[in-house]
Amino acid sequence: MTDAARPGTAVLAEAASAAGYAPSVHNTQPWRWRVTADALDLYAVRDRQLRAADPEGRLLTVSCGAALHHAVVALAAQGWSVAVTHLPDPADPDHLARVRPAGHIGVDPEAMRRFQSVRLRHTDRRPVSDTPASPEAIAAIRRAVTAEGIRWHVLTPDQVLELAAAASHADRVETEDEEQRTELTYWRGGDRPEGTGIPDEVVPAQAPQTTVPGRDFVRAGTLAVGPGHDRAARYAILYGPGDQPADWLRAGMALSAGWLSATELGVTVLPFSSVIELPSTRQVLRAVVSNLGHPYLVVRLGTADPATAGPPHTPRLPAAQTIEVAAG
Ligand SMILES: Cc1cc2nc3c(=O)[nH]c(=O)nc-3n(C[C@H](O)[C@H](O)[C@H](O)COP(=O)(O)O)c2cc1C
Repeated sequence: MTDAARPGTAVLAEAASAAGYAPSVHNTQPWRWRVTADALDLYAVRDRQLRAADPEGRLLTVSCGAALHHAVVALAAQGWSVAVTHLPDPADPDHLARVRPAGHIGVDPEAMRRFQSVRLRHTDRRPVSDTPASPEAIAAIRRAVTAEGIRWHVLTPDQVLELAAAASHADRVETEDEEQRTELTYWRGGDRPEGTGIPDEVVPAQAPQTTVPGRDFVRAGTLAVGPGHDRAARYAILYGPGDQPADWLRAGMALSAGWLSATELGVTVLPFSSVIELPSTRQVLRAVVSNLGHPYLVVRLGTADPATAGPPHTPRLPAAQTIEVAAG
């Protein structure tokens, strides 16, 4: 590669650092980056996998896909186009992706705007307001998701009731299972590694009155929630034809693309993954998409309740723990 086609390790390391703001299941941040002169390599970190709730690493890989997309967005904001190879080393399944700069194409305002959303995006577990996300905004989010090769289905009112039943069931199973409860308690408030997990400030102080129950985090938090009921919420399933790591990685990229687009459009996103963790509720979601594919994640879409303050940003691991810059 000529020097003109190399951004330099500092730019690649900055992109890896921006990727640290990506959403991840229970804020586990299960990724590690290796920066060389020519590429940015993404690895799964199994020490931060939810071994009880996510034994196959499905949600770990979706989370890493979101981080991968964030890195691509950061490089685009610097004017770099990239070539992304998923699972580049068949001998190492934890080597999830390689990002190679392909050329400097210059900065465009849309790429800059998307990058600004990286710092603004967050998970909001309060009930959404009575003002629904507009059909135009939902169509734009769908376009962002499907452009990454993932399908998208907005649930009908009857399907929302099915989702509500599935979410209650999945949460009950998860919190009654001792191993899963211990794992959830660890990431939700236990003695977890600093800079990870879900702090009190982003978890509702009392369970919101919603049709589809949000994840039961076992311990209440301190986030104030209004009396809203989520009636104006819309729910969508991200799904696709395969159920392998490459599919989960692509789903994570699509989740990030859709969520950043939603952030730009003032739409809040809340993922529901307990229904994905449990095989029986995953099967319910498969039926919802008429067995046309495998579900990867459900998201709630809406607009934020203006009456109460939104949650703060969750902590992140220091870059030194997730990024290694190769010498030379
Ligand atoms: C694959 C995936 C699954 C998630 N599942 C849930 C969930 O079931 N319930 C929930 O409240 N948040 C869920 N989240 C949101 C994460 O908890 C959140 O991204 C993380 O705590 C970091 O916070 P932030 O998004 O505000 O930066 C999920 C996120 C990802 C990427």
